Amino acid sequence: KLRVGVLASGRGSNLQAIMDACNQGLVPAEVVVVISDKPGVYALERAKSAGIPAHFVDLKAFASKGDYERAVVKILQDHGVQLVCLAGYMRLVGEPLLQAFPNRIMNIHPALLPSFPGLHGQRDALAYGVKISGCTVHFVDEGMDTGPIILQAAVPVLDDDTEETLAARILQQEHRLYPEAVKLFAQGRLRVQGRKVFIDKNKGRGVGED
Ligand code: GAR
Repeated sequence: KLRVGVLASGRGSNLQAIMDACNQGLVPAEVVVVISDKPGVYALERAKSAGIPAHFVDLKAFASKGDYERAVVKILQDHGVQLVCLAGYMRLVGEPLLQAFPNRIMNIHPALLPSFPGLHGQRDALAYGVKISGCTVHFVDEGMDTGPIILQAAVPVLDDDTEETLAARILQQEHRLYPEAVKLFAQGRLRVQGRKVFIDKNKGRGVGED
């Protein structure tokens, strides 16, 4: 089974969706460690409840962001992590993580990228007046929400939506989409070529299986 490490900064509902899909046998993977840059968040509690090692790594305890990330990489490597999933991890990923896990870091974003990157995807989509939004799972590169797109799902934006109602509608799709992307990776079916991710029809040798 593919060994997955999850980085989260908050509620951890996407972490939960991935853990549940793994436990139900729907995804041939297991979450082996959860790391948060914020203390006491619910994501860490969810991990502990599931018997999964949960670490808070404090950026302020390090001399630089690079040192912080090297500590995160060390924990991931100590657990034999093969795929890193960012799940509501509200921090830009830097060189240490990218070099340690090339094309092996995924993120979920609550908008249809490349529209509305950043911290407030749902709010920005609503303010812009788009009629359709959604979520995107992508590989992480050095940019902000710019990496190769793996899967997307669309939802309607309704006239009476608030940021909260739109976010909830998108979140339902996130919980379906993220486990699906992890499954494709675990099956070795994702192939990255330049900006594009191709999904092989059959199980093959994809990213993460070289
Ligand atoms: C999710 O909606 C996720 O897409 C978003 O934060 C939420 C985390 O929820 N991520 C971003 O906005 C990243 N820029 P969760 O902690 O319950 O999974």
